[in-house]
Amino acid sequence: MPDIASELARILELAQAQLPDPAGWSLVVDPSWLDRLYFGPGISRMVQALPTGELGGSAAVSVAGSGDGGVITVTSMLRPGFEDLWTTQRAWIERQVADGGSTIRVRVVSECLTDGETGRWATAGFDLVFEELALERDLADTEGLPEVRWPAGSTVLEWSDSAAAASFEVYEAAFRDRPGFPGWSRSEWLERLTGDADFVPETSVCVLLDGVPAGFVICSRGWVDQVGVAPAHRRIGLATAIVTEATCRMRAAGTRVARLHVNANNPEARATWRHLGWRESGRRGRFERAQTSKVQCPV
Ligand SMILES: CC(C)(COP(=O)(O)OP(=O)(O)OC[C@H]1O[C@@H](n2cnc3c(N)ncnc32)[C@H](O)[C@@H]1OP(=O)(O)O)[C@@H](O)C(=O)NCCC(=O)NCCS
Repeated sequence: MPDIASELARILELAQAQLPDPAGWSLVVDPSWLDRLYFGPGISRMVQALPTGELGGSAAVSVAGSGDGGVITVTSMLRPGFEDLWTTQRAWIERQVADGGSTIRVRVVSECLTDGETGRWATAGFDLVFEELALERDLADTEGLPEVRWPAGSTVLEWSDSAAAASFEVYEAAFRDRPGFPGWSRSEWLERLTGDADFVPETSVCVLLDGVPAGFVICSRGWVDQVGVAPAHRRIGLATAIVTEATCRMRAAGTRVARLHVNANNPEARATWRHLGWRESGRRGRFERAQTSKVQCPV
């Protein structure tokens, strides 16, 4: 039996091999993420070794709870060029899912989504319920970042309790119509966005236009976590100014590449990031299937 460290190293090598953009960031090549999904308590895993000794595929299945509240979580990888291993891999996954007993919901987590993987899970009866693009912006290129041009009437508030309160007002106005808007209270929102050690107040700002809260950005180390502009103040370059200000501050603090996730179903935001010169470096997704509509595996 290989020890955990060497098995994790082989799974990590497979994760790197299946990245569509080897230079792009993805959670799938974070050893602690792989460790949690493949080696956590009660997790079943399988690997598919090639004659070379490298892995052609791997999968992990965990069961949490049972009945209506229970969730089976699946993750899997295939080395490009070895997609024919899917038949065996899927048969193994279906056996684990069947052993999950009365658990109703099966969820697939992919931090390195490809069209091929989307097609495989669709064939297995899963719906893509969430899809985000990973974007990044090279900050080392000193020519790349334009000058910040604030719309007339702008006042920039450094992060503080009053900037946080004004930003929450903008957040509600900006995101209320987005699908899946969670309706968090101010304290819940603040806890989620600014509650951990990675939050960077120095690169997070709120902007007033003629004294009215109009836009904000919240950043963590190396990441733009959330940007919003109130509907009444859109298309005057406010997001452009806010993001340029934040990325200039990140660069001054030593960040070489800034990253963010944007929902695939958000064309306005995607157009904004394109306009600002961010490039797509990967995708992540979640699939779901109800056990009752389980598709029988062909093998
Ligand atoms: C995305 C968002 C922040 C853009 O804010 P904004 O202040 O209107 O953006 P800007 O005025 O700086 O737009 C810059 C460029 O982005 C593109 N763009 C922005 N909104 C667009 C839209 N609705 N349709 C097409 N292109 C758009 C355009 O190229 C625009 O330049 P132009 O106006 O000269 O054509 C804003 O629409 C918003 O808050 N949306 C809801 C929350 C959200 O999705 N946040 C981002 C999550 S990652």
